[in-house]
Parts: sequence; structure tokens; C-alpha cells
Amino acid sequence: MSILVAGKLALVTGAGSGIGREVCRVLAREGATVVAADQNIKTAQETVASLEGVEHIALHINVEDRNSVETAFKDVVKQFSKPPTIIVNSAGIYRRNFLTEVDDNIFDDVININLKGTLLVMQTAAKAMIEGNATENSSIINISSIAATRRDVGQSIYSASKAGVIAMTRTASLEFGQFGIRVNAVLPGFIITPMSAIIPDEVREMVIKNIPLQRLGKPGEVAEVIVFLASYRSSYINGASIEVTGGLN
Ligand SMILES: NC(=O)c1ccc[n+]([C@@H]2O[C@H](COP(=O)([O-])OP(=O)(O)OC[C@H]3O[C@@H](n4cnc5c(N)ncnc54)[C@H](O)[C@@H]3O)[C@@H](O)[C@H]2O)c1
Ligand SMILES: *[C@@H]1O[C@H](CO)[C@@H](O)[C@H](O)[C@H]1NC(C)=O
Ligand SMILES: *[C@@H]1O[C@H](CO)[C@@H](O)[C@H](O)[C@H]1NC(C)=O
Ligand SMILES: *[C@@H]1O[C@H](CO)[C@@H](O)[C@H](O)[C@H]1NC(C)=O
Repeated sequence: MSILVAGKLALVTGAGSGIGREVCRVLAREGATVVAADQNIKTAQETVASLEGVEHIALHINVEDRNSVETAFKDVVKQFSKPPTIIVNSAGIYRRNFLTEVDDNIFDDVININLKGTLLVMQTAAKAMIEGNATENSSIINISSIAATRRDVGQSIYSASKAGVIAMTRTASLEFGQFGIRVNAVLPGFIITPMSAIIPDEVREMVIKNIPLQRLGKPGEVAEVIVFLASYRSSYINGASIEVTGGLN
């Protein structure tokens, strides 16, 4: 076993699928104890069952609900007698609609899960770390998207939510730097996961033509970057937004 994040306690949201699940695998491979949190507890448990090591746990979390997030962190601190010092926010949803079709439900869902959810997790995590005197070498990684900086038809609200994640990450890095907590964002391009499966084939083919590497990305290729950002190897990277897109921008 490698030791990139040996002995660390990590909490990953959206851990039941796609990028979040791969992040759990790479963290466990690199020596961390993983709390796999998802609104779908069954898929989070499947993630845990697939990990190396026996100390990992699955946890229910609904990132848009403050009570749920605070309860989840309380349970983790109680069970492990310390707060997690690696936090990866991978919970998110994708909606594709023309602006004229965006209704209040779509707007609320995307903003509440992608933007407010990231805020609640970060806020609760940072408080737990500060209270637990566990801020040194801590690392928070928010998952944004290249959609935050690109223009794509149908992605207005999703792009706005992801641009908000970058803005909040930059401010968070400023506010938490004094404690030793680093905060960075990762901007994946088009990654093969259940989320991107709903994108129509003709759009997919068009996108691939615009990717310099001429292929879509794998969740593991994003997870490796996230775990690097979680580890001491990236000790001077803070407030950054790292693109993992095969060159698409
Ligand atoms: N797949 C891509 O191409 C791509 C590209 C750029 C960014 N992203 C971002 O990466 C992140 C992960 O995406 P993915 O492709 O792995 O998606 P996914 O749909 O495979 O997984 C998302 C997970 O989040 C969970 N989730 C959704 N709402 C939740 C909530 N309210 N509380 C807790 N968990 C919740 C789901 O249950 C699911 O397990 C998302 O933030 C997404 O926006 C994905
Ligand atoms: C991202 O990271 C910081 C650090 O905690 C957090 O405060 C911010 O709210 C997070 N969420 C978003 C949406 O950037
Ligand atoms: C906080 O942790 C540091 C080591 O990381 C230790 O030196 C210090 O004494 C601790 N302070 C308190 C109040 O526990
Ligand atoms: C922080 O990381 C450095 C380098 O790995 C290590 O020497 C130090 O002990 C770490 N501090 C804590 C509190 O983990």
C-alpha cells in the first residue's frame, strides 16, 4: 500500500457513484480511512464494500439539508473521535434545459444541491476541524466543472452553480488559509459516469471532436488529481481551480 494520505480520515460526498466512488477507491488505496457519504445509502454501501481495508463506513447525507449535514459530521466525529481532515464534495446533479424551459424546481434543485450543498459541507467541515484542533495539513476539494467557464446550450443553471463553486472556493481559501486548511476546486470535462450518460449521442460525438485528446475522461483520471490535492504533495496549492478535461476548455 502507498502512503500518500496514510492515517487520514476522509469524507467524500456523492460517494455512491461516478467520480465520488473513484475518489473513495484512490483514497483507500493511498492509506486513508474513508467515510463514503451519499443520499443513496445503498450505493454508498456498495462503494465501501469495494474498498481495500475494513475501517471504512457508509453514511447517509443530503447535502442540501443543513440538519442532515450537521448530523452526519457529528456522527463521524463521535465514531472516530476526530473530524475528517480531507473533504471531497462530489455530490451534484446535472440538468439540461433551454433557458425558456427552466422552472423554479430545476433552478432550486441545481442551486441547492450543487451550490448550497457545497457551502453546507464546507462550513460544517471547517467548523469541525477548527473545534477539533485538526486544521493543519487539512484539504477541502470542491468539484466544479469546466461548464463553469464554457458556454454550452442548455447548461445555464448548471454552469451558474459551478461558477459559484469556484467563487466560493476562492473566498474559502482566503478565510481558511490562516488555519492551515487548503481549499481547491477541480473542473472535470466530459467524464464517463451515470451523470453524463443522459447527454445525447450526437452532442457527445461533437464534444469529442473538440477535445484535444479525442476521448472522454474516466472517473479515475479525476480521482487521482483530487487525491493529489488532498495530499501533502500539493502543500502549496491553495484557492486554485484545476482543469481535468483532456484539453477541452
Ligand atoms: N460526469 C461529468 O462529466 C462531470 C463533469 C464535470 C463535473 N462533474 C461534477 O462531478 C461531480 C460528480 O459527478 P458524477 O459524474 O460522478 O455524478 P453521478 O451522478 O455519477 O454521482 C453523483 C452522486 O451524488 C449523489 N447526490 C446527488 N444529490 C445528492 C444530495 N442532495 N446529497 C447527497 N448526495 C447526493 C448521487 O446520489 C450520486 O451518487 C458532480 O458535482 C458533477 O457536477 C461531472
Ligand atoms: C468550497 O470550499 C469552501 C471551503 O470550505 C467552502 O467554504 C465553500 O463554501 C465550498 N463550496 C463552494 C460552493 O465553493
Ligand atoms: C493542537 O494540535 C497541535 C498539533 O497539531 C498541538 O501542538 C497543540 O497542542 C494542540 N492544541 C490544543 C489546544 O489541543
Ligand atoms: C503535516 O505534514 C507534514 C509533512 O508531511 C508533517 O511533517 C506534519 O507532521 C503534518 N502535521 C500534522 C499535524 O499532521
